[in-house]
Amino acid sequence: MKNVLVTGGSGKAGRAVCRDLVAHGYDVLNVDVQPSADPVCPFYKVDLADLGQVMDAMQWTGGKDHPFRKFRSPDAVVHFAAVPAPDLVPEEVAFRNNVTSTYNVFDAAIRAGVKRVVWASSETTLGLPLSPQNPPAYAPIDEDHPMRPESAYALSKDLGEEMARQMQRWNPETSFIGLRLSNVMEPKDYARFAGWQDDPHVREWNLWGYIDARDCAQAVRKALEVDFSGADHFIIANADTVMNADSAELMRRIFPDVPLRKSLSGTETLLSIDKARRVLGYEPEHSWRPGK
Ligand SMILES: NC(=O)c1ccc[n+]([C@@H]2O[C@H](COP(=O)([O-])OP(=O)(O)OC[C@H]3O[C@@H](n4cnc5c(N)ncnc54)[C@H](O)[C@@H]3O)[C@@H](O)[C@H]2O)c1
Repeated sequence: MKNVLVTGGSGKAGRAVCRDLVAHGYDVLNVDVQPSADPVCPFYKVDLADLGQVMDAMQWTGGKDHPFRKFRSPDAVVHFAAVPAPDLVPEEVAFRNNVTSTYNVFDAAIRAGVKRVVWASSETTLGLPLSPQNPPAYAPIDEDHPMRPESAYALSKDLGEEMARQMQRWNPETSFIGLRLSNVMEPKDYARFAGWQDDPHVREWNLWGYIDARDCAQAVRKALEVDFSGADHFIIANADTVMNADSAELMRRIFPDVPLRKSLSGTETLLSIDKARRVLGYEPEHSWRPGK
């Protein structure tokens, strides 16, 4: 898994992924429609909604001394490009971009003989935005929780997971690991967290979860390196919530009727990362809390 093609490497999470992979000795190609503001690797401008362009990126046929040549058939693909949330663009635009891009990247990767695809699904597939009127079935939410996409964006990720399952069944040699990312945060975002503490409703929509971009990158690297076959999906969050209040207290106040499936310790995450820990060896190393 030496040569890794990363889609969306110019974005918030993708930049952290490229940086982490380069730091760990990978050769990385960033494939995006726009260049990165923090370039750490070569960039190839591609609209992933166009299969021809994706095939070209995945099977480079240019000059033999060109630096992209080593990505002619990348060893692995990290697919992070997407419209990254609901309500940024019209629903149909997000849906078309994300579903078409994901199909194209999965299809081109299979055609190029890529053995591992790691890609960004989303916590939104699990029923977000949650509220007292739209509570989770239980907490902590884990991968067995019912899929309840509530937007075209979340539906595009749900369908991405189905595409991964079916395309992997057609092509057993290629394995797919989908990361249901919580809300991605860079260290500079942590300045906003103090303002959320007085009103637990502000961040109830995702059970007060977050994922540090650097831990997200760690999860990607672990998913590239793990011995695995098939298509599966993992919730990726940090080990704690965005709140100072204890998680059990937050659940009692905002979701009193939601069953708790375990006794909660302090500010531990309500988006379970047990499966990611167990299968991928993922272990968050960062926290928004000072000194961690
Ligand atoms: N940001 C979050 O809180 C969050 C939470 C859960 C999941 N995710 C998922 O993680 C991934 C990365 O999110 P992000 O926050 O870094 O988003 P971002 O918007 O910062 O980056 C996405 C990148 O994808 C590129 N892109 C989009 N469509 C493209 C296309 N058709 N062709 C080529 N490039 C294209 C954009 O140019 C951009 O650089 C996305 O798949 C998103 O859905 C993000």
